[in-house]
Amino acid sequence: MTSLLHVDSSASPIENSVSRQLTALYAERWPGRYVHRDLARDPVPLIGPAYVTLGTRVEREGAGVLPADAGEEREWALTEPLIAELRAADVVLLGVPMYNFGVPTSLKAWIDRISFPSAYDDAAGQSVLRDTTVIAVLTRGGAYGPGTPRAGCDFQEPYLRAHFGKLGVTDLRFVCAEMTRADDIPGLAEFREMKLKSLAAAREQLIAMR
Ligand SMILES: Cc1cc2nc3c(=O)[nH]c(=O)nc-3n(C[C@H](O)[C@H](O)[C@H](O)COP(=O)(O)O)c2cc1C
Repeated sequence: MTSLLHVDSSASPIENSVSRQLTALYAERWPGRYVHRDLARDPVPLIGPAYVTLGTRVEREGAGVLPADAGEEREWALTEPLIAELRAADVVLLGVPMYNFGVPTSLKAWIDRISFPSAYDDAAGQSVLRDTTVIAVLTRGGAYGPGTPRAGCDFQEPYLRAHFGKLGVTDLRFVCAEMTRADDIPGLAEFREMKLKSLAAAREQLIAMR
């Protein structure tokens, strides 16, 4: 049975969120095990100093190090279930709005926890995530393609590419809906057609991947 971990991070409810609507389109009628994590509704606590001391000991001494005090126990209790959830997934579906050229803070807090040292090493030193498919559904109010004035300002896709690559994910796919604010911002009115085309293409891509 194929297992889907669906992670949303838009601060907006589904009626107003393009990324939530797109991830829901992919996830609807998922035939296997399904876990939905809503990082805006249930935020992951920011990492604290005990997370760092525990992680540093693991880096020095290797996996198998145990929490040494109540602070480290607490951090591990907040972290381990998220890692287990990710390890158990065959497909990870991420809804990722662009906020201030990057990813939402709620998603970054999750990324900091799931990236605990050695969390995905198997006995042969390879990443257990090498067979995991990660689909990142990106939404942006503007456009960042080659030749656009803000082409150099996309810190959303390159960041996710670098991060999941470092975790050992090899099947990383991006679906992107741009110009989502074209109906709301008068200065973007000329891009309404582009918004519709981008959204339609994103929907088609996701339906084809199901
Ligand atoms: C806090 C905040 C920051 C944003 N920053 C950017 C930005 O830097 N670049 C951009 O193109 N759009 C930006 N937007 C617009 C969103 O990317 C856009 O509305 C997107 O559709 C949000 O995803 P959602 O529809 O799933 O909520 C921002 C929106 C918010 C609420």
